[in-house]
Amino acid sequence: MLVLLDSLSATTDTRRSTYDDMSRDIRAMQDDDMANPASLWVNDGAALWSQPAGAAQMSCADCHGDAATSMKGVAARYPVFDAARGKPVGLEARINHCRKTRQQAPAFAPESRDLLALTAFVGRQSRGLPITTGDDPRLAPFVEAGRMIFERRQGQLNLSCAICHDHNAGKRLASALIPQAHPTGYPIYRLEWQSLGSLARRLRNCMAGMRAAPYATGSDEIVALELFLMARARGMATETPAVRP
Ligand code: HEC
Ligand code: HEC
Repeated sequence: MLVLLDSLSATTDTRRSTYDDMSRDIRAMQDDDMANPASLWVNDGAALWSQPAGAAQMSCADCHGDAATSMKGVAARYPVFDAARGKPVGLEARINHCRKTRQQAPAFAPESRDLLALTAFVGRQSRGLPITTGDDPRLAPFVEAGRMIFERRQGQLNLSCAICHDHNAGKRLASALIPQAHPTGYPIYRLEWQSLGSLARRLRNCMAGMRAAPYATGSDEIVALELFLMARARGMATETPAVRP
């Protein structure tokens, strides 16, 4: 799969970001930092970055310096293989790892404003850079596990992710256009949420729509799905923080 994507030439690459099919208004909102509501979180993240915290009373900046340099390209290659745990780890969990072990502070709760803010701030440093997730050969079995979840039928409607996002992408479901589901812009500001939200939240939304029991944020299944989707989007530009309908 990855080899196949890498060998696709620009002219035969049919992958599209949801951005390409959004209205002009929503695209303009994403493109202009002043108009993008996610900028509020990015600014909060910048403040948190240099704020001492925890028993260590150290800030992210104390160790990582200027995020524009140290965090450039980082979000574009997550999830990465975590050798200590022998499995992939997503960006939010990686940030929380520093939070707990380096700052010696309690972990941020999933979907909390602070965790979204720091993730958006770190992600913003990769804006425009190509996604590189999945390079590490140790990730291969987990990418495959994610692909199997993506293609497996589940829930009361007996749907798979692939039925919508591979086989019916570009068609309409009620008023919504079914995108190809490339996770190029997370965390996203979703107009329907009136808030920033993580990729895990987006996936849980889709699972609820399938009348399936949503996987928990941070579970092996969600991380495998995130990894598969990011690896499938390899080479596409990072849009973080994106705006979505
Ligand atoms: C006391 C020093 C220290 C502090 C404070 C610290 N980190 Fe880290 N961080 C590290 C080190 C060292 C690594 C990489 C090595 C390791 O942990 O294996 C790292 C790795 C990371 C990575 C992964 C980078 C990559 O290339 O994959 C991210 C993201 C990160 N830190 C974010 C943060 C954030 C956000 C904060 C503040 C909430 C923070 N760190 C606080 C020392 C620190
Ligand atoms: C019944 C069709 C359907 C199924 C099944 C479905 N989705 Fe979606 N998905 C959508 C639609 C429609 C959207 C666009 C957002 C909206 O308006 O709801 C979307 C959005 C997304 C996005 C956001 C893309 C972006 O640009 O941010 C991702 C990622 C995604 N889906 C992944 C999945 C995964 C993974 C599964 C399986 C667990 C899945 N979806 C199952 C219809 C579906």
